[in-house]
Amino acid sequence: MENIAELTQPALRKVTRLVDLTASQQAAIRRIPAEKDAVNVPIAASRPNAIFTGQARFDAEQAGIFRRYPVPITLEAVLAEPGSVVAVEAYGMPLLVTRTRDDEIRVFINSCQHKGSKLVEDCEVHKQSRLTCPYHAWTYGLDGRLVGVARAEMFEGLDKGSRGLKQLPSRLWGGVVYAQLDGRDPDWSQVSDQVTADFKAFGMAGAHVYGRKSFELKANWKLVLEPFLEGYHVQRLHAASIGRLFVDAPNIVDMFGANVRQVSGRIGYEPSMVDDDPEGNVHKLVTHAYTAFPNVVVVTSQYYISVMILVPRGVDHTTVHYFMLTPGPATTPKAEEVFERSYDLIIKVFGGEDFRAAEISQAGLSTGYPETTLYCGLEANIVNYYDAIEALMEV
Ligand code: FES
Ligand SMILES: [Fe+2]
Repeated sequence: MENIAELTQPALRKVTRLVDLTASQQAAIRRIPAEKDAVNVPIAASRPNAIFTGQARFDAEQAGIFRRYPVPITLEAVLAEPGSVVAVEAYGMPLLVTRTRDDEIRVFINSCQHKGSKLVEDCEVHKQSRLTCPYHAWTYGLDGRLVGVARAEMFEGLDKGSRGLKQLPSRLWGGVVYAQLDGRDPDWSQVSDQVTADFKAFGMAGAHVYGRKSFELKANWKLVLEPFLEGYHVQRLHAASIGRLFVDAPNIVDMFGANVRQVSGRIGYEPSMVDDDPEGNVHKLVTHAYTAFPNVVVVTSQYYISVMILVPRGVDHTTVHYFMLTPGPATTPKAEEVFERSYDLIIKVFGGEDFRAAEISQAGLSTGYPETTLYCGLEANIVNYYDAIEALMEV
């Protein structure tokens, strides 16, 4: 994939240069040592088995995080044009996300205000100006207003103005659509302005969704998250795929509340490399990996960005919405080939390797053993992240 991408760079046009990044991202990259100078520090840390297998912890996370704070629903890039609508099964709630003619993104409960029927049943992106209920054909604007009722004269005293779709408070953060699920006034305090600025620097909001796929995993959401917070597994779990491209060097880590930014040099990294070609693609040299509170994972590759929303559905059930973002649609057959091969590879690596690791860990932990999980110096970010969310939950 890497070499082919090089050949097609002119066709892909837009790459991320060092100067495109935020000052904070650039400063972090400047802190990456040469591969040979990297120092790994051992740690002693563990977590009880029950944080992955216990109903009490799951319930505490739901109450303390996923219903208390706004949560990510989908990506702005999915709704690329005004008049777009997509249904999302999020956190056990059927939702609709629209981009109105006025270019506003809105989040609604996907429930007709006549008798509750879902207005959109699939999860494809639709281009339309109205939402018509399949049951009795009540019709809504993309702004949620009820605009049409079949045989309206048969409803005595119907006030259409009071039967619009139930809208949830929502906001865009760096290309991610967040909403408050219980309809309360959202507490935005945990979403990081720096991470938002970083995502903007990657061009996430205006990116093209090359591919998206949802996975149903038999694993706790934190086991799905863990591989994206540590480098320990990369050379081992991914030995047959991408492992050879990475070393066990520590990441440069910055935490912004309960948000984690990691950046690491690719194999053979030397600090002088970032200045050798100022117009060059910085993601040929470094890899960024973010965990944006509470459950968004962003990982950069040379010519695309992977975004995942890890949705907890049960103690041992997680839905992952995976999105591959490119700067634009492929404009040449060669570029299309690169994207296609990249997509196949990333689905194989994340789906077949990282997600599989989460499922086999869950299977073992569900026996009750080991009674604690152990974390080493190459996995310190996991512990840091758990410390941060546990402080928020006060568990
Ligand atoms: S349930 Fe939607 S129109 Fe009747
Ligand atoms: Fe991995």
